[in-house]
Amino acid sequence: MTLSGRTALVTGAGRGIGRAVAIRLAAQGARSALVARTAEELQETVRLVEREGGTAVPITADVSTEDGVRAVLDGAAEALGAVDVLVNNAGTVQPLGPAAEMDLERWIGAFAVNVFAPAALSFALVPDMVKRGWGRVVNVSSGIVAHPAALGGFNAYAATKAALEAHTLNLAAELKDTGVTVNVYRPGSVDTAMQAWIRERGENLVDAATYARFRSSYENRTLITADDSAASLVARVPLPETGCVWDASDRI
Ligand SMILES: NC(=O)c1ccc[n+]([C@@H]2O[C@H](COP(=O)([O-])OP(=O)(O)OC[C@H]3O[C@@H](n4cnc5c(N)ncnc54)[C@H](OP(=O)(O)O)[C@@H]3O)[C@@H](O)[C@H]2O)c1
Repeated sequence: MTLSGRTALVTGAGRGIGRAVAIRLAAQGARSALVARTAEELQETVRLVEREGGTAVPITADVSTEDGVRAVLDGAAEALGAVDVLVNNAGTVQPLGPAAEMDLERWIGAFAVNVFAPAALSFALVPDMVKRGWGRVVNVSSGIVAHPAALGGFNAYAATKAALEAHTLNLAAELKDTGVTVNVYRPGSVDTAMQAWIRERGENLVDAATYARFRSSYENRTLITADDSAASLVARVPLPETGCVWDASDRI
């Protein structure tokens, strides 16, 4: 078990990729604190972790607010003591829609989840990781950053994930040679509730070609499973590399 004795904080662990990451981290020996807003989904993740013989504590909080971040930090400190591994996975694809019709408050709200939360948690936890000479931060991004023009109607998502990657790589450079690594993870196209939401609600929000691509990748079964994506992420956590943009499809 490559993470035996380590502690991990995983946001967005109530379902999808975050849940699968939590289970994989437990299989590698890490004790975890798991965050989402929906208590029932978190309880189910905890149950699945325990079924694998692992230990996890749920923290119900909204990471897009300062109070929520504080609750996460307090809950993690109480449950884990120090945090060795931070996986910033909670994310939102909303708001979708033409930029000309964009509600600015909602657009800013996407930054709160996709950029503010990961940065705030890193800023709070990294100094102690540096003191202890070992730490891991993985920020879950999206392939959209490589192709920002490819998905019409995803302006908030493209902008927030690009900002997240810039933040990540800048922080990695600052922490070079400290023992604390900071990397981006692009999880691939994964069969989760987020994809289902786009298929069910996105038809009139995103452009027709984009919508057709989301439908066809589901119907043609080209989406990967959350567990496959999580396996690729968790396998990289022990590695010493930093400042990388990892992609689920890359070989380890
Ligand atoms: N699925 C894909 O194809 C795909 C592709 C590229 C990138 N990604 C990225 O991968 C990550 C996980 O995506 P997913 O597909 O697994 O999504 P998902 O199924 O929608 O799960 C998202 C998780 O994040 C939590 N979350 C969302 N907003 C939150 C908030 N404000 N505070 C706390 N928790 C919050 C959700 O729980 P609550 O709603 O209960 O809070 C849920 O547990 C995201 O960062 C996403 O952008 C996914």
